Amino acid sequence: MYSKLWLDYERLPKAKVKSIQFDSNEESSLILHAKEELRQALDIDSEADFSVSLTQESNGDTDKSEAFSIEVKDHSAKIQSSSEEGLLYGAYECIKLLRLGALADGFKKNYVPSTPLRMINHWDNMDGSIERGYSGKSFFFRDEKIIVDERTEMYARFLASIRINALCFNNVNVVGPATELISSRYYEDLNKLFEIFQSYGIKPYLSLNYASSMELGGPNTADPYDPEHISWWEEKMAEIYQNLPSLGGFVVKADSEGRPGPFTYGRNQADGANMLGRAIAPFGGKIIWRAFVYNCQQDWRDHRTDRARAAYDYFSPLDGAFEPNVYLQIKNGPIDFQVREPISPLFFAMAKTNLILECQIAQEYTGQQIDLCYLLPMWKEILNFPADMASHTVGQRVAIPSAGIAAVANTGDDWNWTGHILAGANFYGFGLLAWDFDVDEKQVAEEYLSLVLGLEGPALAKVKDMMLMSWPTMEKYTAPLGVGFMVTPHYHYGPNIDGYEYDRWGTYHRADWKGIGIDRTETGTDYAHTYPEALGDMYADPEKCPDNLLLFFHHVPYTHVLQSGKTVIQHIYDSHFEGYAEVLAFLETWNSLEGQMDDDIFLHTKERFERQAANAREWCDQINTYFYRKCGIPDEKGRKIYT
Ligand code: GCU
Repeated sequence: MYSKLWLDYERLPKAKVKSIQFDSNEESSLILHAKEELRQALDIDSEADFSVSLTQESNGDTDKSEAFSIEVKDHSAKIQSSSEEGLLYGAYECIKLLRLGALADGFKKNYVPSTPLRMINHWDNMDGSIERGYSGKSFFFRDEKIIVDERTEMYARFLASIRINALCFNNVNVVGPATELISSRYYEDLNKLFEIFQSYGIKPYLSLNYASSMELGGPNTADPYDPEHISWWEEKMAEIYQNLPSLGGFVVKADSEGRPGPFTYGRNQADGANMLGRAIAPFGGKIIWRAFVYNCQQDWRDHRTDRARAAYDYFSPLDGAFEPNVYLQIKNGPIDFQVREPISPLFFAMAKTNLILECQIAQEYTGQQIDLCYLLPMWKEILNFPADMASHTVGQRVAIPSAGIAAVANTGDDWNWTGHILAGANFYGFGLLAWDFDVDEKQVAEEYLSLVLGLEGPALAKVKDMMLMSWPTMEKYTAPLGVGFMVTPHYHYGPNIDGYEYDRWGTYHRADWKGIGIDRTETGTDYAHTYPEALGDMYADPEKCPDNLLLFFHHVPYTHVLQSGKTVIQHIYDSHFEGYAEVLAFLETWNSLEGQMDDDIFLHTKERFERQAANAREWCDQINTYFYRKCGIPDEKGRKIYT
């Protein structure tokens, strides 16, 4: 058994409509799905307020944009679009509005995507495990086989209902049998899988092993300038597209964390990406090349090498050098999905490149779907960055909207798909945010709680408030002031303050008895000036740098006074005590909701909040004790710090 989440049409009383009309003769799979969803979700009742109609209206040109509109006039709700995708999205939206009681005469809204490519990246392995998966096993792969079952279709419906239009099935770390996904071993089964997603308007993608030729019997090189290697790829792409005609293209992690790439041959990242881009171009495919490239063999003694700079240093000189079908996928921050990071400077530095923003719905560093952390506010902060910082960046704009958004999935085969039922709101919300960068995170939370948990009134308001607090709360009880990475190595859940301090990964806090933080100004690595000048100057000035990023950019004494008026050490104590107290309050609030939702959801989530409370306590005490021991400065408020 598994939850149908927001597509559980039985959870709320079924919306009633007078009739459902289809003014489209097209019998394409998308239209058929749209009709089927409407039929399943709505009850026909001649006494009902509305009728619903689905109208495909060409706007005269060849524009197949996914946009749609919903208009209610004279008790008739009209869903209109020139494209089949738009009609399917419109059907889901209309169903949602009806179920939430949000449609009335006079309602009129145009829905236009903020960005054309809205993608989910799965990090699923062929053995069924999921890299950074916190909600069970893969529902795509098991024991080196491809799974196609009824969950497959349910998942395609989830994705289409939140207007996701691209999906990459396998882990970016392509090893062992995953390399063979582009071989006859898997073509037939992949096609079955692809067909289901394709029928909901979702383009299938695969992650690619850059050194495939060496593992699949081709030339023993992956040099992007080697003629034999180039022809091997040309032939391979032809074979792939003959067998997988619906494939959108490939996601590639190269020269990163042990994965092969063009650096081995003295070539740069554009050389590698363009070689694949040219080979796939005749078939209309895309190469999505990840910018997550850094030296993961760093020496902690070395203060000059800076992981935060790496992607900028490798990629920014290559702006304009990529083939038109090559897309650069950039994580939101320069390091790795920490609870707080500055925006990646590449978004300001590569105006001539197709850029995709990569977010992580999987809560690797943000509580692993045990702790509540509603991520929409974080992603919105990134997407709204240009507006917020306009005064500092003088005319510079982030280039995100032109190409697309991708996110690492948080779904697995758990009954509720995402481990923590409230983590489903991150998945649901990501899709809606990718479609509309200005979506209201409060409204998304409300919709989710109503559709999935059946909550209403004060109970709904309480859970929504917790969700909206949860990211700031997590920021308070984990690594302070943007320093990051004080987590248990490898697992990334729970505190281990020095866990990465003497390791090779380039993630250090440099705390000593006098101070803490990384000097990324002119006296350090000068990462601050990888940003447009005014923004860089702001980050480089400890008096102007936002408090929440101070230790990302500066090494300061514990007695340094923040813009908030507190010293760094007092901020550390206060925020950790506060964060822990807030989590205890979450648990109490949750406990007060017993009986207001299904018992199994209540109990399952209660157990998560209990684990979160234990985790927050551990963070709070370890951090406070660690820094008290380092600097010997007592808490002004005299609270208990273990010694
Ligand atoms: C993080 C994560 C890895 C993952 C990598 C990536 O480092 O811990 O598991 O492979 O990101 O994005 O490629």
